[in-house]
Amino acid sequence: MSGLAAEHKAVNLGQGFPDFSMNEELISLVNEAMLSGYNQYVPMQGYLPLRQTLAEKVELLYHTNINPDTQITITPGGTYAIYTALTAVLRPGDEVIIFEPAYDSYIPNVELNGAIPVLIDLQFPEYKIDWTLVKTKVTARTRMIMLNSPHNPTGAVLTEYDIEQLRALVKDTDILILSDEVYEHLIFDGVAHQSILRYPDLLERSFVCFSFGKVYHCTGWKLGYCIAPPSFMKEFRKVHQYNCFSCHSPSQVALASFLKRKDSYLSLGGFLQEKRDYFIKLLSGARFDLLKSSGSYFICARYDRISDEKDTDFAIRITKQYGIATIPVSAFYKAGTDNHVIRFCFAKKNETLLMAAEKLTKI
Ligand SMILES: Cc1ncc(COP(=O)(O)O)c(C=O)c1O
Repeated sequence: MSGLAAEHKAVNLGQGFPDFSMNEELISLVNEAMLSGYNQYVPMQGYLPLRQTLAEKVELLYHTNINPDTQITITPGGTYAIYTALTAVLRPGDEVIIFEPAYDSYIPNVELNGAIPVLIDLQFPEYKIDWTLVKTKVTARTRMIMLNSPHNPTGAVLTEYDIEQLRALVKDTDILILSDEVYEHLIFDGVAHQSILRYPDLLERSFVCFSFGKVYHCTGWKLGYCIAPPSFMKEFRKVHQYNCFSCHSPSQVALASFLKRKDSYLSLGGFLQEKRDYFIKLLSGARFDLLKSSGSYFICARYDRISDEKDTDFAIRITKQYGIATIPVSAFYKAGTDNHVIRFCFAKKNETLLMAAEKLTKI
């Protein structure tokens, strides 16, 4: 859709990236790190002061003690962290529960490891997990459950109820959890992020993956990290050692000091919530029915009042005809399930959102 957007000079609310600039001080810190000579490999686990600062952050936010030596590894992005975790533990024939719609790397990553994705639809239109259904999908071969909260593409978030259900489900089993929390700070309306890091009994069976790109508006940096129990992290590092081995050094040095400024991440939820609310207000006269977005920087909308086209056809048509690019949500389902829903990314300058809304209101 980004290619089509460029071709038709459309306003692009499709792909998930901000169009506003990142913090300039953080850029200066990277420059400084380079000029100070941090241009060679850092250790395979990542720059130690960064891992230490992350452990402090986890303690502050989730009241959990993480050992920076044995439980954190810096990675080239969240997607890589997820792939590495899966590769570390999956065996051919293992079953992995994935909720759809799902971030596009999950299914191919599971399949590349010879494992079998067991796909479960989130309940439309709230996109909640049907835990009764999940129970029926667990077998002796279930190796892992993949979670993503706040959720791409829907903006749904896990609640304490979900955590209780998850806990009951995995109790007395060997089921592992992969928790994709790249949008951990993008959560709205005063709701607390239900990080797996809050729950020691769940963390002991989990890989939890994060992305600096999503937190600091620099998706192109491709830097993230994984947190897991020491025995899991040992396996994770066996894969990482012979793949990427060591990530971009100056960015790690810069982030180690920038992360001390708690406001840089604590203010994020409020900042994106304002964008969400602004976008919702702008669309109040449009014929789209917006679904609830409680987190992430995405909001989905039904277009049943406008058309009964397939969502892919609809998304392509409005890009060409009205100059507005979005993502059809069927793209996040292996079987292409089409509920006539498209996804907007609202991590955009207010003027971009305004331009987009003017076009959307005409449809
Ligand atoms: C749910 C989810 N996980 C992971 C990622 C990837 O993060 P990164 O760019 O750090 O690999 C994204 C990016 O869109 C995402 O939406």
